[in-house]
Amino acid sequence: MRIILLGAPGAGKGTVAKLLTEFDGSVQVSTGDILRSAVKAGSELGKKAKGYMERGELVPDGLIMEIMESRLQEPDCKKGFILDGFPRTIPQAEALKKLVQELKLKLDLVVNLDVPKEVVLDRLTTRRTCSNPDCQEIYNVKSKPPTADGKCKKCGWKVVQRDDDTEEAITQRLATYNEKTAPLIDYYKKEGLLKTITSTSSQEIVSNITAAIKGK
Ligand code: AP5
Repeated sequence: MRIILLGAPGAGKGTVAKLLTEFDGSVQVSTGDILRSAVKAGSELGKKAKGYMERGELVPDGLIMEIMESRLQEPDCKKGFILDGFPRTIPQAEALKKLVQELKLKLDLVVNLDVPKEVVLDRLTTRRTCSNPDCQEIYNVKSKPPTADGKCKKCGWKVVQRDDDTEEAITQRLATYNEKTAPLIDYYKKEGLLKTITSTSSQEIVSNITAAIKGK
């Protein structure tokens, strides 16, 4: 499958993307995960991205497109990709459209995860993430706890709270989403690719998406 997951911070994009990878070998491509790995590694990209991420602002489009143009041409993307957190602005969506055409590919679906604000706020303050940059498994103290001593059930690394899951950064991320990313809902509606899902159950969301892809 080749799909885009749209949704506010905490809507469950990462959680759903990881579940979808179990279906047909499609890979999760999360710009947030790529950027967090770069920050942790202290690479040039990480140094450029760090401040924006901590403040809850978007990393500049040019930097994101540089990453994505090469990432989407890596061999593991041949079976399909689940874009989690990208595109996030109209210029990114336009650049992706051009790239997909150049690569002679077709997007199957754009899924808008429409979750109430009070639910996303609760999820973000209770989220925990595996600190291993190659794992970044997502946990939640309420709905999906790590081990009793705070370790990742997959790789054993320590599970931590993300640097941008502070109250201040969350407020900014939600404002950034409303201003810069929410307009993509209309953009993809006009492209005839949009499917909005209002369920808060990840399993139900995954079933809805796989059924929609099979029906194509
Ligand atoms: P990114 O990592 O993409 O963060 P985000 O969009 O804010 O989304 P989140 O990862 O916070 O939430 P999610 O929707 O994936 O929810 P999750 O599954 O974790 O981006 C971080 C930063 O990087 C940005 O602020 C920006 O600076 C930069 N960046 C990234 N991409 C960029 C781009 N394209 N352009 C420019 N800058 C970019 O779930 C949240 C919690 O809820 C978890 O605890 C989970 O366990 C729980 N949960 C999920 N689903 C359920 C459920 N159904 N029931 C109960 N709990 C659930």
